[in-house]
Amino acid sequence: MHVCEAYLLASWLFIHQVQAQFKLFPNSTHSTANLSQGCITVLNATINCDSYIQQLVLNDYYGSLSNVTLQDSVCSAACSMSLGSYHNGAVTACASNPQPWPGVPAVWAGNAIWALYNRTCLKDPTTEAYGVNQVMAINTGNVAIQATCSTGPLPTVAQPPATNMTAVPGVVISNPVNAACLSGSHYTVQPGDDVQKIAVAHNVATGTLKTLNGIFPDSTNLFAGQDLCLPRMCPTYLVQANNNCATVAATDSITFAQLVNYNPLINLDCTNLISNTNICIGPSGPMYTPTTIPGAMVMTSDFATSTVALPGATPFGTMANCGKFYEVNPGDNCQQISLNNSISVDLFKETNPLINADCTNLTPGLFYCIWPLTNWNATNNATTTLTIATPPALTPTGSTSNCFEWHVVVSGDTCLLITTSFGITLAQFQTWNLQINAQCSNLLLGNAYISSALKTIATVSMPLPQAPLVPHPQPPQLGQ
Ligand SMILES: *[C@@H]1O[C@H](CO)[C@@H](O)[C@H](O)[C@H]1NC(C)=O
Ligand SMILES: *[C@@H]1O[C@H](CO)[C@@H](O)[C@H](O)[C@H]1NC(C)=O
Ligand SMILES: *[C@@H]1O[C@H](CO)[C@@H](O)[C@H](O)[C@H]1NC(C)=O
Ligand SMILES: *[C@@H]1O[C@H](CO)[C@@H](O)[C@H](O)[C@H]1NC(C)=O
Ligand SMILES: *[C@@H]1O[C@H](CO)[C@@H](O)[C@H](O)[C@H]1NC(C)=O
Ligand SMILES: *[C@@H]1O[C@H](CO)[C@@H](O)[C@H](O)[C@H]1NC(C)=O
Ligand SMILES: *[C@@H]1O[C@H](CO)[C@@H](O)[C@H](O)[C@H]1NC(C)=O
Ligand SMILES: *[C@@H]1O[C@H](CO)[C@@H](O)[C@H](O)[C@H]1NC(C)=O
Ligand SMILES: *[C@@H]1O[C@H](CO)[C@@H](O)[C@H](O)[C@H]1NC(C)=O
Repeated sequence: MHVCEAYLLASWLFIHQVQAQFKLFPNSTHSTANLSQGCITVLNATINCDSYIQQLVLNDYYGSLSNVTLQDSVCSAACSMSLGSYHNGAVTACASNPQPWPGVPAVWAGNAIWALYNRTCLKDPTTEAYGVNQVMAINTGNVAIQATCSTGPLPTVAQPPATNMTAVPGVVISNPVNAACLSGSHYTVQPGDDVQKIAVAHNVATGTLKTLNGIFPDSTNLFAGQDLCLPRMCPTYLVQANNNCATVAATDSITFAQLVNYNPLINLDCTNLISNTNICIGPSGPMYTPTTIPGAMVMTSDFATSTVALPGATPFGTMANCGKFYEVNPGDNCQQISLNNSISVDLFKETNPLINADCTNLTPGLFYCIWPLTNWNATNNATTTLTIATPPALTPTGSTSNCFEWHVVVSGDTCLLITTSFGITLAQFQTWNLQINAQCSNLLLGNAYISSALKTIATVSMPLPQAPLVPHPQPPQLGQ
């Protein structure tokens, strides 16, 4: 994050009280896990380091300290040894314990300091110079080079915006400052501002504001006139001295995990809360407010309490005990029907078992159940006995007489509608009704067709929809 160590050169003011040791969890770990006393004692062990290192860790600062006296103090050999034994102690004493915080091992907080120590204190073996200082020297050189390119000694003085740059024909040059400000929300620093004041005025988290704009822990690189990118707004809370995530979360009726999630800069075990800064106690940015599809019906309960009359033919297997049916239109899909009718896609498919896994076989013109009764899938133990049925209307020649179910063709019927509705294949339908041609283009209105014959006893255990009987002047002729 901090690639701008060089800028510290002239500006870092150390407010540093030498304190050669500290404890990581003097006021308890606030762990929700049941830790052994041995583990708690080890986590509460004294760390023999300059306490300034904690401030560096809290701010995720990995740059040069710009003060070798201070750096020598932070990088003492005693600190290194102490961090090593703290680590080993935690490994041993907490071995059979659960993780103190979900996903965060006992060694986490100590290792965070150790990692910073290792990086901040790494020395060039020949010159004995600190690596971070050498990087800073390189950056300082780069700044000097940049200064000769009319970019100025950034950013220790606010640069007046260049207004007289020669335009490159055909190229639109946007404001390079915070061009990547995703919130699109900018603020120009005013005299007398400080980061916390800006965070309060704009309802944003202080840490996020600082990180987003590369502002140093001590804010020494904040200048009047500077363009800041504001993070997204959130409901904020001003951290008080002695607060911890558990108490803040409890006060605001959110969970520890939510608090940490709302604040990406707070680490998982919440050891880096900084008092007098704003944190988010709710999600950032606009809240999602679901809207219903215009005209969509809103079910007040998942299941209907009473059935409605069948409005027409249903796909085979769709239960008649249904509170509402929907006639599928060309182009409909399961997701759209599900959304529009407040039924889950799964329940819609279960209630209408003929629908295939990818929902590619919805048949326009048939009525699908979209609001089943609670007992829609109750086992029906009644055994259906089938008998050869008399045709209710004239039958075309070539229809078999060994028929259990007849369907009288009505206006609008198609072979697809009939076969889907009775759960038979087109081949079966054609075999039982020889009059039907290969394209199934010659259904005779008012004639009764066999929709269930001897061979399909197993598939006709469902109650069939009531197809309207079409009165016919001639007495019915049985098929041969
Ligand atoms: C940590 O140790 C200190 C003594 O150094 C003691 O007063 C404190 O109660 C201990 N805290 C915990 C959580 O054990
Ligand atoms: C916590 O651990 C101790 C020691 O193993 C055990 O006696 C106690 O019942 C545990 N408490 C809970 C709430 O699990
Ligand atoms: C460098 O750090 C030391 C130790 O903290 C401090 O006494 C001294 O004032 C600092 N020097 C500068 C120039 O800030
Ligand atoms: C710090 O450096 C020591 C020595 O190289 C190493 O053993 C240790 O694992 C390092 N600690 C971390 C947290 O990286
Ligand atoms: C651009 O403006 C700066 C500041 O006003 C001035 O110093 C510089 O000479 C100008 N450059 C050109 C090319 O006009
Ligand atoms: C622990 O509690 C003491 C006394 O309330 C307070 O001064 C100190 O800042 C607290 N330390 C931490 C790390 O919370
Ligand atoms: C949603 O359902 C309503 C009522 O059933 C209907 O009038 C409307 O056309 C449907 N809209 C869509 C997009 O399916
Ligand atoms: C019936 O449907 C309900 C709700 O979808 C489900 O919980 C239950 O397991 C189903 N029962 C059977 C026998 O499929
Ligand atoms: C159906 O059969 C099952 C198991 O054989 C039985 O538990 C259930 O009570 C029966 N339901 C009815 C309505 O008879």
